[in-house]
Amino acid sequence: MREQGRIWMNGKLVPFGSAKVHVLTHALHYSTAVFEGIRCYHTGRGKVIFRLGEHVERLFKSAKIYSMKIPFSRKEVSEGIVRTVLASGLRECYIRPIAYYSYGVMGLTPTPNKVDLAIACWEWKTGESTAGKVRGARCKVSSWLRIDSRSQPMQAKAASNYANAALARMEAIRAGYDEAIMLNYQGKVSEGSAENIFIVSGGRISTPPLNAGILDGITRDSIIKIARAEGIDVEERDVDRDELYTADEVFMTGTAAEVSSVTEVDDVPVGDGRMGQTTRRLQELFFEASRGRDERFSDWLVPI
Ligand SMILES: Cc1ncc(COP(=O)(O)O)c(C=O)c1O
Repeated sequence: MREQGRIWMNGKLVPFGSAKVHVLTHALHYSTAVFEGIRCYHTGRGKVIFRLGEHVERLFKSAKIYSMKIPFSRKEVSEGIVRTVLASGLRECYIRPIAYYSYGVMGLTPTPNKVDLAIACWEWKTGESTAGKVRGARCKVSSWLRIDSRSQPMQAKAASNYANAALARMEAIRAGYDEAIMLNYQGKVSEGSAENIFIVSGGRISTPPLNAGILDGITRDSIIKIARAEGIDVEERDVDRDELYTADEVFMTGTAAEVSSVTEVDDVPVGDGRMGQTTRRLQELFFEASRGRDERFSDWLVPI
């Protein structure tokens, strides 16, 4: 990690290397943290933050589910994000706000602890996390099932959800793949370890519904809106594992991944094994929208 700029901790910008927490921080032991992943893009009109309002809203929603009272308003958090990005001097970056039960009272019950909020950002280039963009990603259907809302609320972007995702990601990488695709307890496709998933079959685009145990992805929502604006319908429905092998195209979406093509699932080529036309088109449209080159979506960009 290249330490650049400053990290916002409870309202103060501190040097990157000094942004520390106590080893008895509740969240470190019990995963009682919620966070966001946001992008700042460089556009013809300068730096913009992509769908800032929606990300801040999702952070507060995640916190509410865990009875966590973030001691800042949405406006203060948004301003903190902007200050952190400006202090970094980075042209483009990935931004990570995290709210967590802090240090004070050890034991499972989180609520006696105060809630702290930190915001960091770092360089995470786009289009270069190669798998899925430069070449298609090779994915493995994970042996780990995606936990669902009977066990943990999946609409919260909570640190605790990521132990399940990390197991799936490690399994896939160890077996020589780029990413995992996780099924839910019903055996239906849910999502990647940190991305939502779409399939294209016979010209129809489908994606698992929110009740398939997925995160309500902001890139997923952007792609649905972009596709619909282009007159292409996206169906939110249960997707069977078999469909991953027979689809013409499969792609994943996420703040880090943006729109990434999947060209192999369990060693079976998707379509002809190359990025498909619909994926390429949506990837381009997302690129145009996020870089301020599509007026239809200009309200997604917050200039800073
Ligand atoms: C589990 C999971 N699903 C989906 C996504 C995609 O969500 P978004 O597009 O809001 O980044 C992410 C990334 O944040 C994720 O971690």
